[in-house]
Amino acid sequence: MQENWHPLIAESEFPAEGKLAAKLAGWHVLVARTEDGLHAVNDRCTHQAALLSTGRIRRGAVMCALHGARFDMATGRCLGAAYRDLRKFPLRVTDGMIEIAIPDQPPAMDELPVIL
Ligand code: FES
Repeated sequence: MQENWHPLIAESEFPAEGKLAAKLAGWHVLVARTEDGLHAVNDRCTHQAALLSTGRIRRGAVMCALHGARFDMATGRCLGAAYRDLRKFPLRVTDGMIEIAIPDQPPAMDELPVIL
């Protein structure tokens, strides 16, 4: 699957709360700033498809607001449970602009969050 880079927001305008949800080329993306930098993942919990961006970011991990699953933002790995890891999106900062590499193909149904 090929990817294309999409501009998101100037790094200087990244929200102080440390996370940002966006929709890029049909994909729901969660970007979070952790101690080791900015990371982008698919904004969909692999347990029951909740939006992860409604959860909190703590110690480099996002916690799902629905049932509490935790995922490492740097690796996408599920922490302390047996759910699938999150899809990671490559992220770079070019001339101060945060850019995310998004697949050319739209997300399949099992990559989309359930939005209540
Ligand atoms: S939907 Fe995220 S932990 Fe259940």
